[in-house]
Amino acid sequence: MMIQYNPIYSHVFESKARVLNLFGGRDSGKSFFIGGQYIPIMMNNEKYFRGVVIRKTYASLKDSVYQEIKDGMEQIGISSYFEYNVSPLEIRHKNGNKLIFRGLDDMLKIKSLKGINFIWVEEAEDLSRKEFDDLLIILRGEGYQRIILTHNPSDEEHFTNHDYVLTPPTKLIETFEDGDKKVWINKQTEEIDGEKVSYDVLSVCSTYDDNLFVPAVRKAVIEKLKHTDPYLYEVYRKGRYATRGGRILTNWEIINFTDIHFENFDNKGYAQDFGFNHANAILSVAEKDNNLFVFDEIYEYEKDKTELVEICDNKGLDKSLRMICDSAEPASIKTFKNAGYKAEEVKKYAGSVKAQIDKLKSYDKIYINSKCVNTIKEIKSWQWKQNKNGKYTDEPLDIFDDAMAALRYSTDLFGKKKLKALNRL
Ligand SMILES: Nc1ncnc2c1ncn2[C@@H]1O[C@H](COP(=O)(O)OP(=O)(O)O)[C@@H](O)[C@H]1O
Ligand SMILES: [Mg+2]
Repeated sequence: MMIQYNPIYSHVFESKARVLNLFGGRDSGKSFFIGGQYIPIMMNNEKYFRGVVIRKTYASLKDSVYQEIKDGMEQIGISSYFEYNVSPLEIRHKNGNKLIFRGLDDMLKIKSLKGINFIWVEEAEDLSRKEFDDLLIILRGEGYQRIILTHNPSDEEHFTNHDYVLTPPTKLIETFEDGDKKVWINKQTEEIDGEKVSYDVLSVCSTYDDNLFVPAVRKAVIEKLKHTDPYLYEVYRKGRYATRGGRILTNWEIINFTDIHFENFDNKGYAQDFGFNHANAILSVAEKDNNLFVFDEIYEYEKDKTELVEICDNKGLDKSLRMICDSAEPASIKTFKNAGYKAEEVKKYAGSVKAQIDKLKSYDKIYINSKCVNTIKEIKSWQWKQNKNGKYTDEPLDIFDDAMAALRYSTDLFGKKKLKALNRL
């Protein structure tokens, strides 16, 4: 029987990359290609193939990927070379090649596997960086060692976005019409026997446009998202990482402050949100033209205030600069004052939170030093609260917002200026 490939995946067939990162929109043919074509062919052709297929739970494997692989082998006309076992799920080639199946919820069992040279994680949006690193370690079997990830771009925080999409490629192979990367290679490193070894990651971002076999009705369902859910449209139609609605700040950028120095700014100071069980966040910030710069962060859990003073002292914070603090803890402010810091409480009044946020939104850009990892994490997820009907209010969601509270307070360091008319949604 004729088998037809979607051309976009020829890059995968030709690749010898250690990591094959297949992500993108819905119905782009990712799962079909790996399960129904790549695995059957590689298991049939490669001399040594010891693979494991992983999904979130073991129970979800039988009716999905196991069946898809079996069907694929039949379609290609090679199923007579294989033996299939259901309990436990296993597919064996007469030449000794073997494929087993595991749930991500059984990582201990996975970590003890030996001689593996192929891993496929289906729906890898659930895979953490730690789990991924553990998988790389078991990839020690002979022959071509590779780990394949198939997933939709879910969470912007996901390591695949950070390491592959947001990190500049070493080789760009194809782009979308809008210039976004479509097929490219990154270099990453892993430690093997105490030595850093570099390896290639091939990323392919596909959409249903790349799938010649997707029925029109399925396309229509995805297309409809344009009007009902712009976030899901971005993810399922365009295959891109996107942000859910309600994000408070979008006028920020992460850069490396190698040539930007705190000493060279006139308008600057510190802002602190106290915390013990929450993080205690202290930001070093400066204002210039209509931009705000976040130079540094101190972000500590379960430290008492004398310990925090010591951390500030050791970091060499400038005691001649103002330090705007959370107004809820006068005693903590006193501790900092006694230690010589110009600590003062932030102005609090009806509507002050909103005024602070309006000021933050009025900057042309808030530049964040790339080393401020906690501030970056928070600013990405800082959202407006939703009411019962799912509509956004003008109150920020008060979880995981310690650096954001400090950022709000920092607006007290700088003089009043005219605010632009702002649309909060
Ligand atoms: N090469 C192919 N030949 C025939 N049908 C295909 C092919 N690739 C994909 N399809 C069909 O397209 C649909 C979507 O593919 P799928 O692999 O599930 O997409 P994704 O995993 O990207 O969401 C499936 O119904 C599948 O049967
Ligand atoms: Mg799929």
